[in-house]
Amino acid sequence: MIAHKGIRVSVNGAVYERSVEPRLLLSDFLRVDLGLTGTHVGCEHGVCGACTILVNGDSVRACLMLAVQADGATIETVESLGSLHKLNSVQSAFLEHHALQCGFCTPGMLMTVTDLLRKFPLATDDEIRAGLSGNLCRCTGYEHILEAVRALVGQRGGAS
Ligand code: FES
Ligand code: FES
Repeated sequence: MIAHKGIRVSVNGAVYERSVEPRLLLSDFLRVDLGLTGTHVGCEHGVCGACTILVNGDSVRACLMLAVQADGATIETVESLGSLHKLNSVQSAFLEHHALQCGFCTPGMLMTVTDLLRKFPLATDDEIRAGLSGNLCRCTGYEHILEAVRALVGQRGGAS
């Protein structure tokens, strides 16, 4: 029998206290234990970026972090952004610029862009490309995603 450990996390503004196995991945904790299935799991070894979330304000791969490592952390997932009927600005830009097709990469892309624009609201094209370089998309060819982010930068007064 594997000993469980108690953790306390804030996820999208709600506090959760749970007892988890030490080996439980943060991605599985979010999806299975908390039912927040917006965080997608692709490669499960840190390559694709589909599982990107924000932990204490920084983007991380939820598949490379254990739930017990998140004890005490403030977590933001894609569910924090907007709702189906009230998209936030990043989601709206993706919609308007056709920056998704199958949508599998989209939660990770949205969280990566959220982190990027909080830190670099007037990101240059090179900074946008560098910021997105850790997220793989098999559908879009990336150009529409770049256009969406450029538009968001333009709304903030940067080059669009
Ligand atoms: S599922 Fe985490 S990086 Fe691919
Ligand atoms: S939209 Fe399909 S993987 Fe990116």
